[in-house]
Amino acid sequence: MSLIQPLILKAEQSHASFLRFSLVEQQSLAACLASLVDTYNADDSVIGFGAPLLALNSSKIPGLKSAISIEGVKRTSPANQDDLWLRVSGSDPGEVMLRVQEWLAVLCPTFSVNEQVEGFCHRGGKDLTGYEDGTENPEDNAAAVVALTGEPGVEGSSMLAVQKWQHQMKHFNSLPSKQQDDLIGRRKSDNVEFAESPPSAHTRRTAQESFSPEAFMLRRSLPWVKQQDCGLNFVCFANSFYPFEAQLKRMLGCEDGIEDGLFEFSRPLSTAYYWCPPVAGAKLDLSYLQF
Ligand code: HEM
Repeated sequence: MSLIQPLILKAEQSHASFLRFSLVEQQSLAACLASLVDTYNADDSVIGFGAPLLALNSSKIPGLKSAISIEGVKRTSPANQDDLWLRVSGSDPGEVMLRVQEWLAVLCPTFSVNEQVEGFCHRGGKDLTGYEDGTENPEDNAAAVVALTGEPGVEGSSMLAVQKWQHQMKHFNSLPSKQQDDLIGRRKSDNVEFAESPPSAHTRRTAQESFSPEAFMLRRSLPWVKQQDCGLNFVCFANSFYPFEAQLKRMLGCEDGIEDGLFEFSRPLSTAYYWCPPVAGAKLDLSYLQF
C-alpha cells in the first residue's frame, strides 16, 4: 500500500536543511534516481519533484504544474521553479549536515544545488517576529486528508508549495505592539485571534474556511537566517495547489485590492511547486515515474 512520506505529517521539526536542485546531466538521471531511492530515509527526509523534471519523460502526475508569478495590486509574487526539493531534518544540526553531505554525494553532479536554506525551530514553533506559526494547522487524521492528493493512480502523494520570505526585522521591531498584532491578526502575548483585527490582517486574509471551496493546507515552515538576512521558509502541503494559490492571491489583494499586513515587513523571494511521491513500506515509491 502507498502512504504519504511520514515526516510530512510530523509537526515537530527542530532543525532542517532545505535544498533546491536543477537537473544538469540528463544521461545519468536514471541511475541517480535509483540511488536516490536507496538513500531516502523516511525518518529524516522529505523529497519533492518539480514539473520540469517530470516533463522530460511521459510521467503524468495529475495536478502537478510549475509555479507561476502572480501579480498583485502593489507587487508581483515571484516564481523560481526548479527540478528537485529536499528537506533533511533532525534534532542535531551536525547530524543533519552529515546527512545532507550523503545526499549531495548521490544527487550531484546529476543535479546542481540552486539554494540551501538552513531552517531552525525558534521558541518552540514561532516565527522570528515572535508569533506562533502553525496554530490553525489540521491535526491527526485531518492533516492526512488535507495533505494527500485524492487523485487515482498517485495515491499517497502530496502537493508541496515552497515560498521563501525575507523579513525586515528592524522595521517590524520598530512598530508598536498593537500595530504588529493588527498585521498578523493574533495577539503576540497570548496567541488569541481577536475579532476587531483589520481586513488586511494575515489571519483574516488566509482564514482557510472562508474560501469557496475551503482552502486548507498543512504548513511546515521554519525560520531561516543567513548573515544579516532572515525570514520564514514557508512550506505547505495540500491535496492540490489550489489552497496556496487562493490564499496568496487574496494576500496580494487580487480579490478586493487589500494587501496582507505581512507585506509591511516581509516579501517573498522565490516560489516553487513539487510533487511528493508516496512511500511503500519505508521505501520511496517512484513507480509512477518512467525514467
Ligand atoms: C512571512 C511569511 C509568513 C508568516 C510570518 C506567517 C505567519 C503566520 C502566523 C503567525 C499565523 C497565525 C497562526 C497560525 O494559524 O499558524 C499564520 C496563519 C496562517 N497562514 Fe501564514 N505566514 C506567512 C506566509 C503565509 C503564506 C504565504 C500563506 C499561504 C499562501 C500562509 C497561510 C496561512 C494560513 C492558511 C494560516 C491559518 C489561517 C487560519 O485558518 O486561521 N501564510 N501565518
